[in-house]
Amino acid sequence: MEASTATLTISVLLLLSILSSIAAAPESALITHLPGFDGSFPSKHYSGYTTVDEEHGRNLFYYFVVSERNPAQDPVVLWLNGGPGCSSFDGFVYEHGPFNFESGGVPGSLPKLHLNPYSWSKVSNIIYLDSPAGVGLSYSNNSSDYATGDLKTASDSHTFLLKWFEQYPEFLANPFYISGESYAGVYVPTLSYEVVKGIQEGAKPTLNFKGYMVGNGVSDTVFDGDALVPFAHGMGLISNDLFQEVYSACNGSYWNPVNNNCLVLLSKVDWELDNLNIYDILEPCFHSPEVREVLSEDSRLPSSFRKLGETDRPLPVRKRMFGRAWPLRAPVRDGRVPTWPELGSSSVPCTDDEVATSWLNNEAVRSAIHAQPRSLIGAWELCTNKIDFDHDAGSMIKYHKNLTAQDYRALIYSGDHDLCVPFTGSEAWTRSLGYAIIDAWRPWYLNDQVVGYTQGYDHNLTFLTIKGAGHTVPEYKPSEALAFYTRWLAGTKL
Ligand SMILES: *[C@@H]1O[C@H](CO)[C@@H](O)[C@H](O)[C@H]1NC(C)=O
Ligand SMILES: *[C@@H]1O[C@H](CO)[C@@H](O)[C@H](O)[C@H]1NC(C)=O
Ligand SMILES: *[C@@H]1O[C@H](CO)[C@@H](O)[C@H](O)[C@H]1NC(C)=O
Ligand SMILES: *[C@@H]1O[C@H](CO)[C@@H](O)[C@H](O)[C@H]1NC(C)=O
Ligand SMILES: *[C@@H]1O[C@H](CO)[C@@H](O)[C@H](O)[C@H]1NC(C)=O
Repeated sequence: MEASTATLTISVLLLLSILSSIAAAPESALITHLPGFDGSFPSKHYSGYTTVDEEHGRNLFYYFVVSERNPAQDPVVLWLNGGPGCSSFDGFVYEHGPFNFESGGVPGSLPKLHLNPYSWSKVSNIIYLDSPAGVGLSYSNNSSDYATGDLKTASDSHTFLLKWFEQYPEFLANPFYISGESYAGVYVPTLSYEVVKGIQEGAKPTLNFKGYMVGNGVSDTVFDGDALVPFAHGMGLISNDLFQEVYSACNGSYWNPVNNNCLVLLSKVDWELDNLNIYDILEPCFHSPEVREVLSEDSRLPSSFRKLGETDRPLPVRKRMFGRAWPLRAPVRDGRVPTWPELGSSSVPCTDDEVATSWLNNEAVRSAIHAQPRSLIGAWELCTNKIDFDHDAGSMIKYHKNLTAQDYRALIYSGDHDLCVPFTGSEAWTRSLGYAIIDAWRPWYLNDQVVGYTQGYDHNLTFLTIKGAGHTVPEYKPSEALAFYTRWLAGTKL
């Protein structure tokens, strides 16, 4: 009797310890309150550092939002912003995070947080990762780590994932996806490739990787470089005459001008595009807060102009975001990616990143999300010039071929008014993979309205456009973005 009670006690204890090792999200990472938010959390939020190199003290910061629907069944999705050098809090604060941020008024004051009805955490568990070290709230104790590139970034992010899933083993069985936009067009396929290699080589824990998603992603010097002129022509930004001239002078290839006549005509194209907001040609480009106020309240503007960029979001969206972008017609090339100052701009023009900057540099916020204080790692910046970044992975086409040939699911989506990474390039390279078209180009719908176009290929490759959206799709088209995200993750018709 006593013996069996003891056995029972031991098995109960054993069971409890097994259970706790299975359901083991680290309690120390749980966020219990957030300055600026007085509601109750719709799901659990966790955040903190994962050390990817003990010797150097290289630490990547993540913010994990548990699904508000069915955490045990919903996919786990990793989200990455681009740059290189931009923090994934761009996605969290401005695009598809659980909150909408209302400015506190004067710069530096604490923003007010409201729940975002179009948060991607409505249908997925989502990890926002600041990568590589030096970006956002991620840092290293050895500054030599700030010289990095595509391959080291992918390898560190892979190490991060293995350690993260070790800490959150209850999510290991969920389908896992990798996603991002802009320069994450490089991060996503290179990391996906590392993850697949890891699975095949028996890296532990075994990730349940299913596929990846890229929005307005940088992919290939030639495809992206050749995409701008046809886009500008199709959108009516350059005349048909100029298009015919530049087409014949350059023989239809613009990424690397072959003769002087081609170069001169391309400069003319640049001149005609010069004052556009390159991230969204429908949006005005504001040059300072004063100018912005005047323009947005100027009732002499036609209402069609004032309505541009209206979204389902209750709060104003940014009028322009920045990244470590490049001048027009200077596609991402192999080698070192120039910083903003090197591109001739001492500060980044036309930016409005006040709420994110105020919130993430508030020490109470830093402490609530388990981030190091400013005294240790400096100010949070949307995009940093701290890192020295080498684009050393070349074209992404070979990565996409490898991953899709193994039937990993891929969604390549484009806001169709982005001039930074125009849809024409993404449409062309996805087509170039040579897969059979199994769902020919057609509109896709939300609430009986056409909201974009899609083309589905064999090997689970889908190309999708979102009508009237720019570079940061969910910022301007939040309900459309949540719709395609939900459908694609579920594998239902887009
Ligand atoms: C890095 O430096 C910080 C501050 O000096 C220290 O707290 C930390 O233990 C160091 N190592 C790692 C791995 O972060
Ligand atoms: C930083 O890392 C480099 C490269 O591994 C190493 O040579 C150097 O000694 C390290 N510096 C410190 C302060 O640990
Ligand atoms: C123009 O491009 C075509 C293929 O697109 C190629 O066959 C031809 O040689 C090119 N002409 C010149 C002058 O480069
Ligand atoms: C993908 O890459 C891996 C690693 O280089 C290689 O072993 C595999 O054969 C490739 N698969 C395809 C389908 O290209
Ligand atoms: C991926 O595509 C292959 C055929 O190309 C198909 O057999 C498989 O079911 C697809 N997987 C998914 C998840 O759609």
